[in-house]
Amino acid sequence: MDIPVTKVENSRIHQLNPANIQFGKLYADHMLVAHYEDGAWKQPEIVPFGDLHLSPATTFMHYGQAIFEGVKAYKDQQGNPVIFRPHDNWKRMNRSAARMAMPDVPEDIFIEGMRQLVNLDKAWIPTEEGTSLYLRPFMIATDEFIGVKPAEKFTFLIITSPAGPYYSKPVSIYVQDKFVRAFPGGIGFTKAAGNYGASMYPTQQIREMGYDQILWTDGYEHKYVQEIGTMNVFFVIGDTVITPELGETILEGVTRDSVVTLLREKGIKVEERPLSIDEIVAAHKAGTLREAFGTGTAASISHIAELTYNDYRMELPAAETWEISEWVKKEMNNIRYGKVADTHNWIVKA
Ligand SMILES: Cc1ncc(COP(=O)(O)O)c(C=O)c1O
Repeated sequence: MDIPVTKVENSRIHQLNPANIQFGKLYADHMLVAHYEDGAWKQPEIVPFGDLHLSPATTFMHYGQAIFEGVKAYKDQQGNPVIFRPHDNWKRMNRSAARMAMPDVPEDIFIEGMRQLVNLDKAWIPTEEGTSLYLRPFMIATDEFIGVKPAEKFTFLIITSPAGPYYSKPVSIYVQDKFVRAFPGGIGFTKAAGNYGASMYPTQQIREMGYDQILWTDGYEHKYVQEIGTMNVFFVIGDTVITPELGETILEGVTRDSVVTLLREKGIKVEERPLSIDEIVAAHKAGTLREAFGTGTAASISHIAELTYNDYRMELPAAETWEISEWVKKEMNNIRYGKVADTHNWIVKA
């Protein structure tokens, strides 16, 4: 599919300083836009990044029919632009869409549109290890109607933004046992905007207490750990890596799946199962809690320095001693930047 392109008159690329990239502050020159109306997607277009003109009655602003994805593009060793596992994000976007009564985004709009956009703005992909071009596909309901009902008009967009490391140091985590992120039957497994909106107040509270992120627990008992802010979570207890099993209340992370796959191939024991906070506390008391980390596209692999549950503070051993998370972090980067063979077909040329 050839997508019509309107190029910027003057590129803003001079604003990019690869030595000092702040996440989400600067956007590349172009964006992809596609409209859905009368039951069908119209011809997508690539246009200069810029403001949208929307009626104040646009439905997503009122009722939150809005979903998004997060993907990253890199440059391989030959300098070619590549995208990491975009088909997994495409499928996840459509799982979110189904739950939110929004239309499927076809592969040629999501994947082909993304490839053409990344190619056009490839000068915006930084090349230092730990940097990338963050790609943000999203869809909003655009009926001009403030009655409450599933919308009929939608807009899909992809915007892109150069990204450096997300957390510059190991994070400090508060185990949440009052507020709930997701409940069975709800939308926890989707990347719906409302999931994030509802997390802002609890996050603001724990930030004021000096923590970086929340580790959410299940809604029934506040006993089983689920995920962190925008990351899935892994604990190394003894020689076993444990991550909560997927279900309706956890986002199926692409990084999570990559990490589980690589660790298992390396012969490391990985368990996907219910993991209670009591088990983590007991492991910490016994001295067997060796590593804890979050995984996500934006944050990559992020070490956890400490976890606080009620008044019990669990400090993790110094990150320099961590072997499993360090190995998998390096291996993931080797694949992303094309330093080792991509045996899983995770890399898609832009
Ligand atoms: C709630 C939540 N969990 C987990 C993740 C990690 O998912 P992924 O590895 O696909 O980025 C994200 C980020 O997308 C997220 O927002």
